[in-house]
Amino acid sequence: MKSREPFNAEPPRQALVSSYVTPTEFFYKRNHGPIPVVDDIERYSVSVVGLIDKPKELFMKDITNLPKYNITATLQCAGNRRTAMSKTRTVKGVGWDVSALGNAIWGGAKLADVLELVGIPKLTSITPAGGKHVEFVSVDRCKEENGGPYKASIPLIQATNPEADVLLAYEMNGETLNRDHGYPLRVVVPGVIGARSVKWLDSINIDSQVCQGFFMQKDYKMFPPSVNWDNIDWSTRRPQMDFPVQSAICSLEDMNVGRNGKIAIKGYAVSGGGRGIERVDISTDGGKTWKEASRYQKPGMQYIADEEKSDKWAWVLFEAEADVHSNTEIVAKAVDTAANVQPEKVEDIWNLRGILNTSWHRVHVQVRHSSM
Ligand code: MTE
Repeated sequence: MKSREPFNAEPPRQALVSSYVTPTEFFYKRNHGPIPVVDDIERYSVSVVGLIDKPKELFMKDITNLPKYNITATLQCAGNRRTAMSKTRTVKGVGWDVSALGNAIWGGAKLADVLELVGIPKLTSITPAGGKHVEFVSVDRCKEENGGPYKASIPLIQATNPEADVLLAYEMNGETLNRDHGYPLRVVVPGVIGARSVKWLDSINIDSQVCQGFFMQKDYKMFPPSVNWDNIDWSTRRPQMDFPVQSAICSLEDMNVGRNGKIAIKGYAVSGGGRGIERVDISTDGGKTWKEASRYQKPGMQYIADEEKSDKWAWVLFEAEADVHSNTEIVAKAVDTAANVQPEKVEDIWNLRGILNTSWHRVHVQVRHSSM
């Protein structure tokens, strides 16, 4: 556990990659305020307001009466792997190891279908009244919003595109969503940093501008290494949406003492925007030479990045074996289907909030030679 209030937690590395679908109890939890209790489900509703003709109050049955989709998608906190970035120069934020992400089967209605209930057709980029963004406002309150609700927005064109698979989810891994993950209803925006997947949804506001909330405007933006707390101008950068290509080795800790011989290297690779994983390269000599790891989503079936045959919003697990005879550094780097590759050095992508540490993932192995 990283903190009790707000409740933030991630599972141990080894547990994280023990299954393709992350069991709910191992799924990381990231909260900015106390977890709210929504218990009167009969009276619970989401109001859809803003620049539309027909503002409407939607009750749970209005959402559950829509076609239900099960989408397997990886949710990743933008701060995943922040602790490693902090070792270069201090950054602000929760000190995550490599497990601030998880892969779940989210069950719910497509936001594109929900917006049709208020008269917004599929694939709309602007409403007649000028609405271009869909803002999600939650029930929970946080200090960064001066006691106001957590909120975020996505473009209307993404929200009304059924292929973008944005969900109002009421199930996680086949069960009713639990309180930690947003009961009774949360947004899931596949391929986008977790911060935009608003939990405990209270209202949806169709707006002409991007959400002006703290977490869109004064947080979760990627700055260059030259920007520090004295010269930061938040208005110069866009809110981060898609996450870049990422991978991490989970079968080993940062420092390992092992026996001379074979070691198993297992981990995950994932990219944002629905891009698949083309390759995972493994080095057992600190990045001088590389070999490819095998990849899978369904156990026993080699993964191919192909929308028909793979889950496009989900991570890919990888496996390789290394023969290690002296102290060394084992490294993983992934390449996505757009040929984006993880950057080598964390120093090059250091940023004051410590987000999007996607540098090559390194673990050290010290070999203990037995005397027998
Ligand atoms: N939604 C609300 N209402 N409040 C929050 O604090 N945290 C966001 C997002 N949605 C948050 C929220 C962040 S930063 C992340 S990474 C994900 O939820 C985490 O989702 P999880 O706790 O279900 O893993």
